[in-house]
Amino acid sequence: MNDTTFTRGEIISLVVRLTLVSAVTFWSVKWIINQIDPTNKTKKKARQTAEAQLKRIASPIPINELNDYEMMIAAHLVNPVDIKISWHDIAGLDNLVQELRETVIFPIQRKDLFSDSSLTTAPKGVLLHGPPGCGKTLVAKATAREAGTYFINLDLSILTDKWYGESQKLAAAVFTLAVKLQPCIIFIDEIDSFLRARSSSDHEATAMMKAQFMSLWDGLITDTSCTVIVMGATNRPQDLDKAILRRMPATFHVPMPNLAQRRQILSLILQNEPLSDDVDLECLAKLTEGFSGSDLRELCRNAAVYRIRDYVRNEISTNLNRARIGSGGEGDIYHDALRPISMDDLKFSFSKMRESKIHCGSLGMQSRIDLD
Ligand SMILES: Nc1ncnc2c1ncn2[C@@H]1O[C@H](COP(=O)(O)OP(=O)(O)OP(=O)(O)O)[C@@H](O)[C@H]1O
Ligand SMILES: [Mg+2]
Repeated sequence: MNDTTFTRGEIISLVVRLTLVSAVTFWSVKWIINQIDPTNKTKKKARQTAEAQLKRIASPIPINELNDYEMMIAAHLVNPVDIKISWHDIAGLDNLVQELRETVIFPIQRKDLFSDSSLTTAPKGVLLHGPPGCGKTLVAKATAREAGTYFINLDLSILTDKWYGESQKLAAAVFTLAVKLQPCIIFIDEIDSFLRARSSSDHEATAMMKAQFMSLWDGLITDTSCTVIVMGATNRPQDLDKAILRRMPATFHVPMPNLAQRRQILSLILQNEPLSDDVDLECLAKLTEGFSGSDLRELCRNAAVYRIRDYVRNEISTNLNRARIGSGGEGDIYHDALRPISMDDLKFSFSKMRESKIHCGSLGMQSRIDLD
């Protein structure tokens, strides 16, 4: 007969060995799962970026209270004090700015006055729409800066994760992070590309994410005490899903600038540039019918470059002259200061831009007037 009794020492050693084997197996399996998780690398990188970002913006929430998905979204977080754009950088949109102040900014800043009734709280959805290059993104950034809210500049490409299920978790994280950080603006530029009208040809995962996005948004709407605003910008409001439009009750049109607005934009863009006396901004504003704010900026940028080009050409010809006549000769015609921007520079830049715009078909007929 076998003697199956164990001494106390043997039992303890067996238990220790078993515990060790289980621990090693557990950590090995965990390590293997991490290694084969396709999103592991992205999550690790996002965590590092988010940690640096949260530290820099002095986040009110400890990093260990955020899950992996919130961390990935946090990498796109902007502190209002880091936003460089203010109302002073936007010209010709005074009425819009005033309206935004009254409907969006005051209810955030004076929550004490506005949160008594569910009717007076800040809208949970704001839509900026209008033609390209007219200042929608500028306005969104300046709003976040003035309201003093955190700003999640939502890069839609991170929501369209190729791994099934990840997109939904990321979409949920956008809202949970915003709620943790509130007051917060979730900004979705080109929102039509993400939340366009749903169709039967939508991929199942995309359709599910859109539906989930809307239900998370509804969660914000029903919670009147929460200050999270989804702000979208689009050139194509007609392409947006009707259900999305309903969730964005505050809509603001950012139009193509009219004559007076173009005049104001031009003087803002050129305010710190040296201009020669012949520069007539009124005349330039009349010429630039059909130009957006961004076109006007490009026009002024090109004009400013011409004087540098002339300067360089002068320098080259002066060096040639010097070489021909001998240094310090009477033929030294070198000017060592950049000349101011002239009306000719601006008109030349305008005619070049108008030409390319006519080629692209982006200029209305009435703006095809001739230069005098
Ligand atoms: N009202 C304005 N005042 C001053 N600058 C302006 C104005 N509108 C446009 N700009 C200039 O045009 C640039 C582009 O503006 P912005 O990115 O806000 O346009 P957008 O409406 O968002 O265009 P898109 O629809 O193509 O995204 C700005 O960086 C700025 O230089
Ligand atoms: Mg934009």
